[in-house]
Order: sequence, then C-alpha cells, then structure tokens
Amino acid sequence: MGSIRARIEVALARSLPGAQQAPARLHQAMRYAALEGGKRVRPLLTFAAGELAGADPARLEVAACAVEMIHTYSLVHDDLPCMDDDRLRRNKPTVHVEYDEATALLVGDALQTLAFQLLSEHALTDDPALRLTMVNTLALAAGSRGMAGGQAIDLEATGKTLSQAELEYMHVRKTGALISAAVKLGALCAGPCPAALEQYANRVGLAFQVVDDVLDREASSATLGKTAGKDAKQGKPTYVSTLGVARASQFAEELRCGAHAALEGFGERALRLRQLADFIVLRKF
Ligand code: IPE
Ligand code: IPE
Ligand code: MG
Ligand code: MG
Ligand code: MG
Repeated sequence: MGSIRARIEVALARSLPGAQQAPARLHQAMRYAALEGGKRVRPLLTFAAGELAGADPARLEVAACAVEMIHTYSLVHDDLPCMDDDRLRRNKPTVHVEYDEATALLVGDALQTLAFQLLSEHALTDDPALRLTMVNTLALAAGSRGMAGGQAIDLEATGKTLSQAELEYMHVRKTGALISAAVKLGALCAGPCPAALEQYANRVGLAFQVVDDVLDREASSATLGKTAGKDAKQGKPTYVSTLGVARASQFAEELRCGAHAALEGFGERALRLRQLADFIVLRKF
C-alpha cells in the first residue's frame, strides 16, 4: 500500500496544473490542498478493487486521482467558515486560512471539474458505455443525492439529535457515496462492478464516517492532523452523540465483519480489500 500511495502522490502531482502556470495562485492552492498528508484511502480502494477485477494499473491511477480530487474538494469546502469553520487539515492550515476564502471556493470548483476532465480524457475501459458509467458513477456520488446532499443534511442537522436511521441516511451520503464510487470505479476499469463488491463498498463507506466520528472524540488533533473534538463543540449529531463511543465502535466492527462477509466469494483476490476494511475500522488516525 505504501508503494501505491507513492504512485498516487506522483500521479496527482502530474495531473494537477503546474504551480507556475497561470493563474498561479489558484494552481498553487490546488496543489497545496491535494498533495501530501492525506491517507489516500479512496485511491487505495480503487486500486484494490481494480486488482480484484484484473484492471490495468495505469487506468486505475487515473480513476483514483479523479476520486481523490473530488474528496479533496469536499474537504476544502467542508473546512470553510460557512461550513465547519476549521483551521487545520492534513497537518497544515486549511486552504482558506493559508490563501483566502474565495480561493478555497475556487480550489473546490476546479478540483471537481478536473476530476471529470480526467475521467473523460483517458480511455479507462475498452467499452465506451462503461466509460460513461464511470462518469455517471462519480457524478451521482458527488452530487446532491450523494456527498453534497449529505453535507447539506449535516448542516441542517447541526444542533439537533438524530436517530440512528437518520444518521445512517446522512453518513451514507456525505461520506459513503464517494467511498463506494472509489471501489466501483476500480472495478469498472475492468468491466461491470460485481454486486458483492458494491455491498462491500457500502459497508466500508458507512464504517469510514462512523470511525471518523469516534476519532473526533477519542483522538488528538496532533494524530488526526485536523481539529479533534469539534463535533461536540459544534453540536453535530454523530454516531458518538447518538450511541456513545462504545456502541458506535461496536457498530463499526459489525460493518467491518459485514464487509469481510461480502468478499467471501472472491478468495485471495480480495486480500487488499480485506486489509483496507480492517484499516478503515481499526485505524487510529
Ligand atoms: C475526512 O476524510 C473526511 C471524511 C469524509 C470523514 P479522510 O479521513 O479520508 O481525510 P484524508 O484524505 O485522510 O485527509
Ligand atoms: C466531512 O465530514 C465529510 C465530507 C467532507 C464530505 P466531517 O466534517 O466529519 O469531516 P472532518 O472530520 O472535518 O474531516
Ligand atoms: Mg463536516
Ligand atoms: Mg469537518
Ligand atoms: Mg469528522
């Protein structure tokens, strides 16, 4: 996984406009946001799903960069004063602190369109219909019925108490949708995505945000590279506020087992996906 992370780092650096290219300040801010510091969980999932499906790594690299760009854009906007108002991200000042708010807004806009540019200009599958499916998959995951919609629900729910069902509805969208897309795009580089893989993707996608909620309570800003303890301070409804740390962690563990169960039919080919389900749930940062 270390070597895939390194590969992603190089691919992202190459896919982003050069820091000296005009408008230089925007391009520098895009590179500041996207390069270094992320765990790269979504690209790792794309590679692992693609490996299972037998996809060409050169194609996976492009799909993985596209997903990571959407993810990075979502972080830059999530940190804005009008959303979570955060000053620390990936161990650095957030983009609007280091640059300014308007630049942070544009960084998000430009990273989002760059993701779709990448998907549309590379031949990521031999089947033209599947290429369109890939664009459609990422668009649905990022849009108002996916990540952006989940973020809208998150903002609306601030200060309220949500039931477990309502939390799941929100988390599946704001975080699960893009994680699922990361897995699906990896598989799509080789052919149609198997249903069992989608099931795996949905489980790790939800688990990821449940664990993010737990770590916000349990870990320090230094280990997370972002401000810890903000959810409670801002009155965000989370799995921790609704279930408490112990039951939230137990739920994440159930999702980890469910993710493993979904992979049973794939045998050894799913080794990396199993390891990633473990990382997503057992991580400390
Ligand atoms: C944080 O995502 C935001 C959520 C969707 C929970 P990550 O924990 O993947 O952040 P990076 O990419 O490693 O910084
Ligand atoms: C962010 O959720 C989800 C997206 C960015 C879509 P959080 O607000 O919990 O993420 P962190 O904790 O700031 O990384
Ligand atoms: Mg948020
Ligand atoms: Mg946030
Ligand atoms: Mg969080």
